[in-house]
Amino acid sequence: MAQIRNVLVVGSGTMGSQIALQTAFSGHYDVTLVDSKPEQLERAVEQNQKLVARGVEKGRLTQEQGTAALGRLRTSTDLAGSAALADLAIEAIYENLDAKREVFQALDQNAPPGTVLASNSSTIAISRLAEVTERPEDCCNTHFFHPVTVMQLCEVVRGPKTSDRTVEVAMEFVRSIDRVPVLINKEVHGFVVNRILFAAAEEAMRLYEGGYASAEDIDTAVKKGLNWPMGPFELLDFSGLDIFYGALEDRARLEGGPGAPAILKEKIDQGHLGRKTGKGFFDYAGRA
Ligand SMILES: NC(=O)c1ccc[n+]([C@@H]2O[C@H](COP(=O)([O-])OP(=O)(O)OC[C@H]3O[C@@H](n4cnc5c(N)ncnc54)[C@H](O)[C@@H]3O)[C@@H](O)[C@H]2O)c1
Repeated sequence: MAQIRNVLVVGSGTMGSQIALQTAFSGHYDVTLVDSKPEQLERAVEQNQKLVARGVEKGRLTQEQGTAALGRLRTSTDLAGSAALADLAIEAIYENLDAKREVFQALDQNAPPGTVLASNSSTIAISRLAEVTERPEDCCNTHFFHPVTVMQLCEVVRGPKTSDRTVEVAMEFVRSIDRVPVLINKEVHGFVVNRILFAAAEEAMRLYEGGYASAEDIDTAVKKGLNWPMGPFELLDFSGLDIFYGALEDRARLEGGPGAPAILKEKIDQGHLGRKTGKGFFDYAGRA
C-alpha cells in the first residue's frame, strides 16, 4: 500500500502487542507501539519475542523473518510524537470511553492530515470517538480477534461519517498484514461475530435453565451437529461469564430485550466466572 508506511498502535496489552507484531510480520511497515506504562512495553516486547521463538520452533517462520519483524517494531511512551509520524493509527487501550476519547483527541491534534484513525474496541462505536476529532471521515473501527497472530478475522466498521477512502485504506491494510477483513456498513452493538456468539450463548443458557438439556449435551449437540470446534458453554467459560454478562446487559440497555439469563448472574454472584476462577458451567479443578 503506497500511502501507508508508518503504523502506530496505541496500547500494548493483549491486543495491541499482537496487532503490532502481525503488522511487523508483513514486512510492509515500520511499527510503533505506544503505551503509557514503560513496564507494559517491556512485557509486550518479551511476549512478542516468545511468540517469534515459538513460531520459529514450529517452522511457521524463519529466525531471519522473526528477527526482521521484531526489528521493524519500536516502542515508545510518547503518543504525540509517535502520532506525528503515523500514516495509520490503531487504538487498542482498555475498554473505557473517556480514556479512548483522550487518545483520539491526541491523535487528531498530532497526526498528519489523512492519517487513518482506527479503534480496536469491541463495543464502542467509532462515532463516539470520531466526534471528539475534527476528522470523523478518517475514523473507523478495526476489530481484530484474540490472539491476533492466529485469528484471521478483522471487522472493519464504518461510522456515519467515515469516508470511502478510509474504509478502502483500512480494508487494504488488513489484507496486507495477512488478515481477512469484513466490512460492516453501519454501526451495530457487538458488530457481527459477537452478536452471533452472544445470541447462541444466550439461547444455550435458556435451554439449560429450562431443563431441556444439560450443559454437556448442549455443547455436544452444537459441536457434533453444527461442527463448531467449541460448544457455547465451553466458550462462555473460556471467555469469562462476567464478559458475557456485561455484553448481554449492554445490548438489552441499548436495544431492549430481556438482558442476561438469570443463571449467568447466579454463577457470577457465586464467584464462578469460568476458567479464570477454576469454575463456570464446568469445573476446571485439577485441569491445566
Ligand atoms: N482482549 C480481547 O480478547 C479483545 C478482543 C477484541 C477486542 N478487544 C478490544 O481491544 C482493546 C484492548 O483490549 P486488551 O484486552 O488488549 O486490553 P489490555 O488491558 O490488555 O491492554 C490495554 C493497554 O492499554 C494501555 N493504556 C491504557 N491507557 C493508555 C493510554 N492513554 N495511552 C497509552 N496506553 C494506554 C495499558 O497500559 C495496557 O497496556 C479494548 O478496546 C477491547 O475491547 C479485546
